[in-house]
Amino acid sequence: MRYGAETMNDITIRHAEQSDLPALLDIYNHYVLNSAATFDIEPRTLDQRREWFSQFSGAGKYQCFVAARNSEAIGWASSARFKERAAYDTTIETSIYIAPEAAGRGLGRALYEVLFDAIAGEDIHRIFAGVTLPNEASVRLHEAMGFRQTGVQPEVGRKFGKFWDVGQFFRDLRGNQ
Ligand SMILES: CC(C)(COP(=O)(O)OP(=O)(O)OC[C@H]1O[C@@H](n2cnc3c(N)ncnc32)[C@H](O)[C@@H]1OP(=O)(O)O)[C@@H](O)C(=O)NCCC(=O)NCCS
Repeated sequence: MRYGAETMNDITIRHAEQSDLPALLDIYNHYVLNSAATFDIEPRTLDQRREWFSQFSGAGKYQCFVAARNSEAIGWASSARFKERAAYDTTIETSIYIAPEAAGRGLGRALYEVLFDAIAGEDIHRIFAGVTLPNEASVRLHEAMGFRQTGVQPEVGRKFGKFWDVGQFFRDLRGNQ
C-alpha cells in the first residue's frame, strides 16, 4: 500500500458487510448526483443496494471489498459478472468508488490490489472496467493497475444534458493486457 503513514494506520481493507451498505449507498449516490462516472441518474435506495450486494460472496469471482476508517466504509471495489451469456463466464467487470474526501490518497490502488489478490486463483481470463471520459484519476488508476484502453464507446450515455464517451479498459488476471 502506497498511501502515507497518517492514513495507513487507521484504514482497514476487508470484505464488505451488510452493515456497510448505508455508507456505500451514500458514496455511490454522491457520484450519481454529481458525476458522470456512473450512468445512474436517480439516487439508489438501500433496498436496491441490498439486491446489488447479493451478487458478492467472500470467495470466488465476485467479491466486494471496502476501505474502512474507524469501521466506517469510505470506499469500495468490486468484481461482478461482465455479461449474462454463458461464454462471458471468464470475464469480470470491476467497479471502484472512493468517498470524495478520501480520494487521491492511494485507497483506490490499495483496494484494487486486495481485490485482485483475492480473485487471483479464479478462472478469469479478462477483467473489464468501463470509464466515462474524461476521468483522469480513474484512467491513471486503471493504467497503474495494468489495464490498457482498447477502445471507446462514443457518446453511449446522456447525463447532465450531454453525451459521454466510455473508455473500455481490460487486463488479464496477472495484470497484463
Ligand atoms: C477514480 C478513483 C476510484 C481513484 O481512486 P483514488 O483513491 O482516488 O486513487 P489513488 O489515490 O489510489 O491513485 C491512483 C492513481 O490515480 C492518480 N490520481 C488519483 N487522483 C487523481 C486526480 N484527481 N487526477 C489525476 N490523477 C489522479 C494517482 O496519482 C495514481 O496514479 P499513479 O499510480 O500513476 O501515481 C476515485 O478517485 C473515485 O472514486 N473517483 C470518483 C468515482 C469514479 O470515478 N470511480 C471510477 C469509475 S470508472
